[in-house]
Amino acid sequence: MDFNLTEEHIIIRDTARDFAQNELLPGVIERDENQHFPDTLVKKMGELGFMGIMVDPKYGGSGMDTISYVLVMEELSKIDASASVIVSVNNSLVCYGIESFGNDMQKQKYLTKLATGEFVGAFCLSEPEAGSDATSQKTSAIDKGDYYLLNGTKNWITNGGRADVYLVIAQTDKEKGSHGINAFIVEKGKEGFHIGPKENKLGIRGSDTHTLQFNDVKIPKENRIGEDGFGFRFAMKTLSGGRIGIASQALGIAQGAYELALKYAKERKTFGTEISNHQSIAFKLADMYTDISAARHMVMKAAWDKDQGNNYDISSATAKLYASKVAMEHTVEAVQIHGGNGFVKDYHVERLMRDAKITQIYEGTSEIQKIVISRSILRD
Ligand code: CAA
Ligand code: FAD
Repeated sequence: MDFNLTEEHIIIRDTARDFAQNELLPGVIERDENQHFPDTLVKKMGELGFMGIMVDPKYGGSGMDTISYVLVMEELSKIDASASVIVSVNNSLVCYGIESFGNDMQKQKYLTKLATGEFVGAFCLSEPEAGSDATSQKTSAIDKGDYYLLNGTKNWITNGGRADVYLVIAQTDKEKGSHGINAFIVEKGKEGFHIGPKENKLGIRGSDTHTLQFNDVKIPKENRIGEDGFGFRFAMKTLSGGRIGIASQALGIAQGAYELALKYAKERKTFGTEISNHQSIAFKLADMYTDISAARHMVMKAAWDKDQGNNYDISSATAKLYASKVAMEHTVEAVQIHGGNGFVKDYHVERLMRDAKITQIYEGTSEIQKIVISRSILRD
């Protein structure tokens, strides 16, 4: 077993680290406060190859492995989890979904632009009455011969107001249950496609979350992904990889909070000594370091499984479940270590604490990860 990173891994990690420090950090508090989507920074991330990290270079991607992807995600998330969720959705849901299951026309037309950051993608599964219970969705796509007619509501859609390309999961045959679901590529600006107001969120406030409404939207037949009835399995297979992205986001949030807490604990003095000399603070740091190291091993294992062609349903679910728990618990401790300063925006840890919460909710809540894990271990 080789735990060393390759030279290529170190270069992409350091590039992401420099970008996060020099470009993401300066405006991160303002973007969080005002819910500003980082348009210019997304373009720059496209130029650096971060929007299509794993995509084949023949479609404009960086042609790197999943380990490289999680290294980039961790570095971006240490500073700005709003920016990293844009990268995660674009890479592991939209680009991966089209590259793995789309046809050549779809790859030429959409993937080439998504992989370079010219286009931004969104993944639309959740509905007001179907979040965790994803098979019970009501959005319908009726086969009209040359096209499908799309009707319904998707909510909580990341990049919802900014995307150029939307992957929409819809019911085409209610009688067939999960086998009567399809995935479609929907372009922005289609007649009958309305974008609702932006959500005012607790965390990842620089990301863009909207409800989408489809009223008799005509989707060309050639925009269906895969065989008829493949849509639910498409969503599940794509989300398995997406969960590696969110696990690495949680890891980065936890690592970012740990680094800030460590620095602060070595500087702040009480009772005539640095607070790191008080055992209860030193032990908090020891717990953080231990749990974050364990989370990193799980994230890397899931990424490695994917790169090796192993099944990664369970390793991605366990990595997401654990890393998100670590992120939530230790961002709270990082605020505690900062005392009163932890409670104000300038010290960054309160934002990381708010951002951590979403990693336990999206791409399958922690309870849903336990369903995926328990079904898998009981079946095997
Ligand atoms: N790969 C392939 N097929 C799969 C699969 C997988 N990983 N998981 C399930 N399937 C198949 C099953 O085998 C089954 O097929 P058969 O009928 O042929 O056996 C079919 O799909 C239905 O599966 P289940 O019976 O397991 O379905 P279920 O109703 O019990 O639900 C679930 C399973 C795991 C709970 C699923 O509904 C789920 O993952 N829910 C969470 C939804 C979610 O993660 N949403 C995220 C939205 S995107 C997002 O959040 C992005 C973001 O924030 C940035
Ligand atoms: P519910 O499904 O109503 O769950 C409520 C509670 O009940 C949760 O704690 C849940 O774990 C628990 N629960 C539900 N069923 C069970 C069960 N069987 N056993 C035990 N506990 C259970 N979706 C997209 O499709 N695309 C996106 O880009 C996207 N981005 C998002 C961005 C943000 C900021 C947010 C908040 C959400 C986003 N989502 C997106 C939606 C997200 O995936 C859902 O919120 C999530 O899957 C949970 O669904 P729900 O909110 O309907 O909660």
